[in-house]
Amino acid sequence: MQHSKFHPFVLIFMIVSCSIYAQKFDGLAPTPPMGWNSWNNFHCEVDEDLIKETADAIVTSGMKDAGYQYVVIDDCWHGERDSLGFIQADPKRFPSGIKALAEYVHSKGLKFGIYSDAGWKTCGGRPGSRGYEFQDALKYAEWGVDYLKYDWCNTEGLKAEGAYLTMRNALYKAGRPIVFSLCEWGDNQPWEWAKDIGHLWRTTGDIAPIFDGIVDHGTWFSLGVMQILDKQEGLREFAGPDHWNDPDMMEVGNGMSVGEDRAHFSMWAMLAAPLMAGNDVRNMSKETMAILTNKEVIAVNQDPLGIQGLKYSSNDSLEIWFKPLEKNDWAVCFLNRAISEKTVEFNWRKNIVTDDLSERKFDATLFEYQIRDLWTREIIGNTEKTTSLKIPAHEVKIFRLINTRSTNN
Ligand code: GLA
Repeated sequence: MQHSKFHPFVLIFMIVSCSIYAQKFDGLAPTPPMGWNSWNNFHCEVDEDLIKETADAIVTSGMKDAGYQYVVIDDCWHGERDSLGFIQADPKRFPSGIKALAEYVHSKGLKFGIYSDAGWKTCGGRPGSRGYEFQDALKYAEWGVDYLKYDWCNTEGLKAEGAYLTMRNALYKAGRPIVFSLCEWGDNQPWEWAKDIGHLWRTTGDIAPIFDGIVDHGTWFSLGVMQILDKQEGLREFAGPDHWNDPDMMEVGNGMSVGEDRAHFSMWAMLAAPLMAGNDVRNMSKETMAILTNKEVIAVNQDPLGIQGLKYSSNDSLEIWFKPLEKNDWAVCFLNRAISEKTVEFNWRKNIVTDDLSERKFDATLFEYQIRDLWTREIIGNTEKTTSLKIPAHEVKIFRLINTRSTNN
């Protein structure tokens, strides 16, 4: 038997210290990450021109000013591993290499993200990171990657928590702070174990560019915005600064009606969801741009308290959601899931919302709030009076309730 050149105690010390000192990079996502990802619109059709043009458009469209930061290439950027096992980009699609691309994105004042998979292959059949985690993390650090989305295809026999922990440790060892986005589709309840592993975790299977329904792809299904929303039930207690529930990247601008896109965006704001645009931002309509850059809705999403919204009521396809915000403000969203318009008379003083999780209470008999409509961008009244609303089919009304004064003062 060959003897190790290290004394057993030294070996044990090395192993223990390696695992003790590896951790998640803290503080990289104090509010939900915002950016763009190639998958929802481009799927495997990615190349360096697309990524550069997208970075340019994020700046010129005002998205950067509105808070979008990460430009993430999803699946299919990969080429072969080299003779030492290091991953390389597809030389046809990325002839200048990933390092140069990351530099380009950084030169625009943005951050750069990439995609891999915990299994042998990615979902698109490219090389996965299984067995190469530490080498891949080194490459990403060398390339200047700021964000890693880590998928869960071809992982038969692997335990999710262990697989994601290995990559977290590899990233930490490589030394470059990288936001770690777990994409395990909620199969193994990552909200229960991923807080110290990643900064966000997918809670569901893939989103589809439809408002309400399920798309059958033969061997798998993708979910409409409403189906994804329903799967967030019971998860809000697990989210907060630096550890977010991720109901998947947005489909705004990918084929739904403008009202549906507004509802989708508003609900992602209420959920404190990561806001990853998934459309072609180089060629978007004025309406899509206006939705994605609505700073007042984004402020609901990016509120520093980081409290995911709660569903206060659900009646006959009308849902009312509340989200506690800083300075004792609240966001409230009326979501009409029906296919016809709804009329609502809402008496604020009679609807007292107690949120045990945040220990906040909305009580319009104690405080008066101004009501600001975040799409029309105007104050429509205050909470002293009943508000009458007409909400078109598949649309929302989202308000910021601005705490003005205590009625007892
Ligand atoms: C999975 C993920 C998607 C996308 C594709 C890429 O389906 O959930 O978001 O990354 O893989 O192949």
